[in-house]
Amino acid sequence: MEALRLGRYPAARWVIAHLSDTHLLDGGTRLGGVADTVGSLERTAAQLARLGDRLDAIVVTGDVTDLGETDAYRRVREVLEPLAAASGAELFWVMGNHDERAAFRTELLDERPSDEPVHGVADVAGLRIVALDTSVPGYHHGALDKTSLAWLERVLAEPAAAGTILAMHHAPIATPLSLMDVLELQGQDELAEVLSGTDVRLILGGHLHYATNGMFAGIPVSVAGATAYTMDLSARPGELLGIDGGRSFTLVHVFDDSVVTSVVPIGPFPTVTSFGEEFLTELAGLSPEERLERFSRKRPPTA
Ligand SMILES: [Fe+2]
Ligand SMILES: [Fe+2]
Repeated sequence: MEALRLGRYPAARWVIAHLSDTHLLDGGTRLGGVADTVGSLERTAAQLARLGDRLDAIVVTGDVTDLGETDAYRRVREVLEPLAAASGAELFWVMGNHDERAAFRTELLDERPSDEPVHGVADVAGLRIVALDTSVPGYHHGALDKTSLAWLERVLAEPAAAGTILAMHHAPIATPLSLMDVLELQGQDELAEVLSGTDVRLILGGHLHYATNGMFAGIPVSVAGATAYTMDLSARPGELLGIDGGRSFTLVHVFDDSVVTSVVPIGPFPTVTSFGEEFLTELAGLSPEERLERFSRKRPPTA
């Protein structure tokens, strides 16, 4: 159900939950003996469930599991599939460097095992979502070979009705983390050439384990933080520090002429302030001027 709108912007045409780097282990084992990856994923699903049917897609940009174990893939699926079903959202999986193509195919896609790249295309009410596999079997850096680039070029040759969102694990964006440079995506010049002049409106990425954004080949790039654990950008230069906190996912609101991405912290947290839907309904019954008096007028502090 759509919430009332009282401002100049309409509701987004599409809402996408962008999750990344869930990194589950067999048996729900804590990552590094510390990070409760299952609990964090369940909490993410519980938060997204509050949006009701307002989700059109859930995109998971890779490192779905930490070691490519079948049990870990099943657990992620068990958490996210009911959410997708309840919200009416389509669920998209993107390969990461920690994933294994064969198990990814059998456990998430119900396909036969194969070590070929796991690319995919879907149409979500006119909006095209392309999943591009940037993984390199046996390694943690990313790369795109000629075959993958040619596949992408073929897919993008025909524009989609509402444009394309490209989802890939290794985001083509700078990072201040020197050690992550070693694990960056190779072949970015060739990718830029393929994307030039296409209808790609946004690139979704992961891999960095912190929420960030930038531009690539004139296209905005949004990297979701990890649900598993966070890389601390305030660590000493040269250090790569993964911490058990600061987890987040991203909501992508797609409009006819723009895209807005917003980072959502994964709780739980104490409530500081809260207004209910009844208040919104009350405001909707007022004139625009009355709304400003009711909700915008400054009042002396109460305490
Ligand atoms: Fe990761
Ligand atoms: Fe990664």
